[in-house]
Amino acid sequence: MKIAILSGDGIGPEITGQAVKVLNALGESFEMETADVGGAGYAAHGHPLPPATLALAKAADAVLFGAVGDFKYDNLERALRPEQAILGLRRELGLFANLRPAILYPELAGASTLKPEVVAGLDILIIRELTGDIYFGKPRGVRECPDGPFKGQREGFDTMRYAEGEIRRIAHVAFQTARKRGKRVTSVDKANVLETFQFWRDIVTSVHQEYQDVELEHMYVDNAAMQLVRAPKKFDVIVTGNMFGDILSDAAAMLTGSIGMLPSASLDANNKGLYEPSHGSAPDIAGKGVANPLATILSAAMMLRYSLDRAEQADRIENAVKAVLAQGLRTPDIFEEGMTRVGTEQMGDAVVRALA
Ligand code: IPM
Ligand code: MN
Repeated sequence: MKIAILSGDGIGPEITGQAVKVLNALGESFEMETADVGGAGYAAHGHPLPPATLALAKAADAVLFGAVGDFKYDNLERALRPEQAILGLRRELGLFANLRPAILYPELAGASTLKPEVVAGLDILIIRELTGDIYFGKPRGVRECPDGPFKGQREGFDTMRYAEGEIRRIAHVAFQTARKRGKRVTSVDKANVLETFQFWRDIVTSVHQEYQDVELEHMYVDNAAMQLVRAPKKFDVIVTGNMFGDILSDAAAMLTGSIGMLPSASLDANNKGLYEPSHGSAPDIAGKGVANPLATILSAAMMLRYSLDRAEQADRIENAVKAVLAQGLRTPDIFEEGMTRVGTEQMGDAVVRALA
């Protein structure tokens, strides 16, 4: 089994370092190979997704990804910005299904900004379509405004689009995943305004015919945002498009008190996947040894479960993470009075010890 390790920028190298340490402690012989990506790819090879990095990601059975982005690169032209690396990997590897769990660990109930009774026991899964929508739709750009009161001025424009097959395949992922959990799917759209999302609603409804044991509900995205903070436990699986999923998954992540705890998986049609923490590169705390490595360690667990067919090893890691939380160890992002404050390395070491 070959794993590509793409650490990237900011806290990326620190947190993936801890996940690699945990993987190495499992007693399996994984082949791991690293490559530069994001700002680090640009700095070393002049491109955020250097050809050798893409080739490694394609050749590997799974990719463990840290994070990309740094203020340093904010003034580069769009095609060279670090974010293009993750967008390029998603597109080139066909990673259309993004699974973003939002789970509240009982030990961290106090870390949420919502009342404990609103979030206690929260366990929802956002399934975000990841290779379509306005993120990738063409045409896009800046042009001369063709009509209306601003005719003749410059205008920026993007294209929102979804092909039927694109909607069908993500709907199948949602219904099949829901079958293994709470058997409820909420499809989030904006069918009241957007043609693309009326079409989305119609296709999801038709795919649902094959899954009559799963309950399907449709919800407008603005209402979904409200329900997420009002009564998030009403949700089981949420399936939505690329842009709505980007926004709702950040909101859902924060319900749990720390985005530093949440892993994610981005899968292709054959369960090959890229695994990354739901948080970003946090350049403000990079190199200080304080970043929370648990989201990346839990991403490695998802990798074992979905791409490497080692569910037992995934369970071991997830249980070890629960154990270190129960021991009261906390990185600064989840620190509360009375707990033991630890850094990135110490947290990784504690997970390794808890594996045994
Ligand atoms: C995410 C990020 C990315 C996205 C950026 C970095 C391109 O916000 O993974 O959610 O918008 O998809
Ligand atoms: Mn995002």
